[in-house]
Amino acid sequence: MKISFVSAGTATGTGVAIAFTKSKFSAAATEYDAVSNGQVKKAAKAADFTGKSGSSFDVYAPDGASTKRLVVMGAGDRVKFDAEKFGAKAVKSLLMSGESTVTLHLDGMDLSPDDAARAALGGVLAAYRFDNYRTKLTKDQKPSITTLKIAYDTPAKARASYANFYGPIAEGTCLARDLVSEPPNKLNPESYAARIKAMAVPGLKIEVIGEKKLASMGMHAFVGVGLGSNYESKMVVMTWSGGKKGEKPACIIGKGVTFDAGGISLKPGAGMWDMKGDMGGSAAVVGAMHTIAARKAKANVIGIVGLVENMPDAGAQRPGDIVTSMSGQTIEVQNTDAEGRLVLCDVLHYARTKYKPKAMVNLATLTGAILVALGHEHAGLFSNNDDVAQQLLTASEESTEKLWRLPLHSVYDKLLDSKNADMKNIGGRLAGSITAAQFLQRFVGDTPWAHLDIAGAAWDPASADPRNPAWASGFGARLLNRWIADNYEG
Ligand code: BES
Ligand code: MN
Ligand code: ZN
Repeated sequence: MKISFVSAGTATGTGVAIAFTKSKFSAAATEYDAVSNGQVKKAAKAADFTGKSGSSFDVYAPDGASTKRLVVMGAGDRVKFDAEKFGAKAVKSLLMSGESTVTLHLDGMDLSPDDAARAALGGVLAAYRFDNYRTKLTKDQKPSITTLKIAYDTPAKARASYANFYGPIAEGTCLARDLVSEPPNKLNPESYAARIKAMAVPGLKIEVIGEKKLASMGMHAFVGVGLGSNYESKMVVMTWSGGKKGEKPACIIGKGVTFDAGGISLKPGAGMWDMKGDMGGSAAVVGAMHTIAARKAKANVIGIVGLVENMPDAGAQRPGDIVTSMSGQTIEVQNTDAEGRLVLCDVLHYARTKYKPKAMVNLATLTGAILVALGHEHAGLFSNNDDVAQQLLTASEESTEKLWRLPLHSVYDKLLDSKNADMKNIGGRLAGSITAAQFLQRFVGDTPWAHLDIAGAAWDPASADPRNPAWASGFGARLLNRWIADNYEG
């Protein structure tokens, strides 16, 4: 979908104007009413239209305008107007309408250039579909909108805001959605690494580290997870050096299990197909690195993803195996399905010892228990540092990707005790998301760190948010970008 910012009065195709419950029509709707000799108000009356959010009415071929169809959309209370959600709703409702050009009229409404840019972002997020493997869609099952125009008072300013910030966010989020949606026969650790390597954003350096090297570096917890797979495990390091030379970076780290069958501790069959999305944390990191590089952020950021497939096989690791992590700590693998923490513990140790980051944040579809606690609505936030936790909560507000903080506490440590090794990789039935976080904490030392458990947020088959597609949300890319923008640039 092509985005363009235009000045008022240049609508073609379908126009969308706004109406509010109290102050009623926006400038554009009022203008259409004037040129059409009152057709808009007449239609509003006939439709018993009040401006309530979710309601709308159409005026086809309004007199005095070149617009084929004017849609007046109710947006509720003027003071609560959210341009991004409005853009998303408008595009979502017209996506299959047959119309190719849609103009959103945001002019004459005292909106900021950022609001206009965010309306475009909302539109792009709402237009997202993963149709790559659908060969039989009929014309009316395919999106018809090819151009989204935003009519705004100072289009150049809105265009700049979109080009410099919100456009790259749209790209990063859609990239993350694409990666999460790819089927696991197409996206495996090797093809995934190649795809990241091919990501052509000027200045973004990408290094792929293969399985043998990972083993030689001592990352046996990580490598153990992939032993049952036909694909080599890979760690990919993305380096963006947009900040001061020599300044310590922020690290963002993602779990990239391209398929989680559970390994020898095999998962039940029903719903197992969703485990293609078990690389959602890594997708958020890749998406964020894309966004950060595309907007040339003035910050030093390292993105690291651990890519691996968790399969049962004669070569696979067994429950009862003891592995030595890169940190030297030993782990009894009591359940091969608790594999995310085994991958992350080595990547976290690597990141902290190699880069000495100012702070590091990892994202992972880590536990089913976080879905029990928070559903698909919030991701769980765990942190050893109140400043980093607060930074992320603020970034969460701004980016509209919701987080909820949960505790870390030494009282949970005993649940990880093993008779045979320094720890075991499962904590039992209770507090499953916390024991997983507690496990990770053992590998971060005193580095300011946060863990985001996105097992619920990475996909939602029934999201009520008009910006979200039917499954993969791309959660995290936008949040990480905002966290970097707010705290590491300047
Ligand atoms: N990838 C899963 C967690 C998950 C569950 C993600 C549902 C998305 C939706 C993870 O590797 C896993 O299997 N966790 C186990 C841990 C348990 C064995 C301690 C779980 O949550 O059941
Ligand atoms: Mn698992
Ligand atoms: Zn998993």
